[in-house]
Amino acid sequence: MSIESKSRVITTHVLGEMKLRGEKIAMLTAYDFSMARILDAAGIDVILVGDSASNVMAGYESTLPITLDHMIYHASSVVRAIKRALVVVDMPFGTYQGNSKLALNSAIRIMKESGADAVKLEGGREIVESVRRILSAGIPVMGHLGLTPQSIHKFGTYVVRAKDEDEADKLIEDAQILQETGCFAIVLEKIPAKLGTKVSRDLKIPIIGIGAGNGVDGQVLVTHDMLGITQEFSPRFLRRYHNLYDEMHGAFKAYINDVKSLDFPNEKEQY
Ligand code: KIV
Repeated sequence: MSIESKSRVITTHVLGEMKLRGEKIAMLTAYDFSMARILDAAGIDVILVGDSASNVMAGYESTLPITLDHMIYHASSVVRAIKRALVVVDMPFGTYQGNSKLALNSAIRIMKESGADAVKLEGGREIVESVRRILSAGIPVMGHLGLTPQSIHKFGTYVVRAKDEDEADKLIEDAQILQETGCFAIVLEKIPAKLGTKVSRDLKIPIIGIGAGNGVDGQVLVTHDMLGITQEFSPRFLRRYHNLYDEMHGAFKAYINDVKSLDFPNEKEQY
């Protein structure tokens, strides 16, 4: 099926309807075809091709090094697997900040070359010109406030954001600005649960939390974290549904052992 003829079940409009009827939105990350196919078959609503690929796929310490070309490669691999979910792609660091023309060009490349449904940008009032210009081309935009990992060098640490009143007030205003500008949803990362609930109640668009409590309209996690493939990262908000690191480690050890002991391949496994 060509990208043009593909019409997925979950749209940005559907997410708005889910908020209206109180149905929570389930979102997880994917960066490759095989993982995306399993997620879509399981019924995930939104797949985020996150710039967390910089950490979990490429092994960098932060999300800053990943490039637009890398993100398009990951996104196009994901899109080829999807029949149902909405696919949102992170715009990487340096492709939209402070230059709305660059932002539009970057977003157009993502949409044209990957076939994704929407883009996600980190930040509030300071990126509003970029958001506006991307929206003017008919590209849906998801916002991202709170702990925004692309600004890690400004924050200096990955601790909980918006604990004090000033930062919380600014976050509430930024969320309003993003909604007024036309974002279809906002991710809130690592903020107090009370603040997440307030933003979700005040705004009409869906609010998706990661470490923002259960009063928001949906949840997102990094798939490699919730499956227990990554081990070193264990913030309070992370629920591990599996310990895949240990299971994969065990399978690899068993294979090595079978090869070395001549157990593999056996009679039935050869021609
Ligand atoms: O890059 C990412 O995976 C994200 C999520 C943590 C929301 O932005």
